[in-house]
Amino acid sequence: MTKRIVVTGGAGYIGSHVCVELLASGRDILIIDNFSNSHPEAIARIEEIGERNVEVLEADLADASQANSIVERVKAFRADGAIHLAGLKAVGESVVQPARYYQTNIGSALTLLQALEAAGAKSLVFSSSATVYGELNDNPVTEEGRTGATNPYGRTKLYIEEILKDVASADGAWGIVNLRYFNPVGAHSSGRIGEDPNDIPNNLFPFIAQVAVGRREKLSIFGNDYPTRDGTGVRDYIHVVDLAKGHVAALDYLDKDNRGAIDVNLGAGKGYSVLESVAAFKRASNRDIPYEIAPRREGDIAEIYADASKAKKLFGWTAEKDIDAMCADHWRWQRENPEGYRS
Ligand code: WQD
Repeated sequence: MTKRIVVTGGAGYIGSHVCVELLASGRDILIIDNFSNSHPEAIARIEEIGERNVEVLEADLADASQANSIVERVKAFRADGAIHLAGLKAVGESVVQPARYYQTNIGSALTLLQALEAAGAKSLVFSSSATVYGELNDNPVTEEGRTGATNPYGRTKLYIEEILKDVASADGAWGIVNLRYFNPVGAHSSGRIGEDPNDIPNNLFPFIAQVAVGRREKLSIFGNDYPTRDGTGVRDYIHVVDLAKGHVAALDYLDKDNRGAIDVNLGAGKGYSVLESVAAFKRASNRDIPYEIAPRREGDIAEIYADASKAKKLFGWTAEKDIDAMCADHWRWQRENPEGYRS
């Protein structure tokens, strides 16, 4: 069993939920995080929920001058696998700063590969994204769908998937799973960990949550003239705890000596529109969610949701929590932590 796991970006929104599920599965963790978009308090909350300590290395995988110390620490930790979540992830920012995104996201992946190679730890789960599909496929989208990211952030995910496939082709000892996330939302039922964006949220759910708690005046709905059932964008929202359990399922799959590199969707397999999401959050929070219709956002697509049958077939994993659970858990986190970890 991959018992000793490096989790890059482990203090982040998805990373913290992955760490909680890894501890619950009996694994030991070394978190590598530079806290550029996360908070050290999240580590304390992970240990509180998991009732066990984790090791932490504050480091920037994208900083070449830190590579040697990262390699040494991963070897000293006696890692036998890794989950790689660290990276820049703002689509709009990536359009404005493409070189920074390529250097950071691809550089971080290459440094992690160097460390894992040195430790002889050849099991890796990579945080990829449904954004690699663009708007090129009919829904539900399968892993065999055409890929073609429409922004530098999405292209970093695509290129890292290809790098990992080349690594697995060159050395059959590697077992790699590229997890293509759809839209993670929600929070752990304890209300102690959750999404805590650094500044104005780019994503729908954290923005809605901040409107509900009174931190934002109203939601701007980016377009209601899409060819969807109510004109607003449709996405496959997946509870972040279901997503986190999918990572443990991927490691368990690799533990069965499955080698090579595969792509696997992690989605609920159904879509909700923006208006449906607002209505669900109102039900969960019993708060009004004022909104206005605004122009479409550059780069947005109308509708995408997953065919999640491959994860079911290979991992025995399916998303279990519905949109009302996602909203209730997201709201609990936001209500109990109105300023995120800073509160
Ligand atoms: C969802 C829907 C918007 C905000 C992005 C990244 C993707 C992944 C997940 C990292 C869309 C609408 C949103 C708002 C709105 N991130 N919306 N008002 O764009 O599907 O995916 O996050 O991997 O890479 O692209 O998610 O939450 O931004 O938008 O109307 O203030 O909500 O138009 O229809 P998206 P999102």
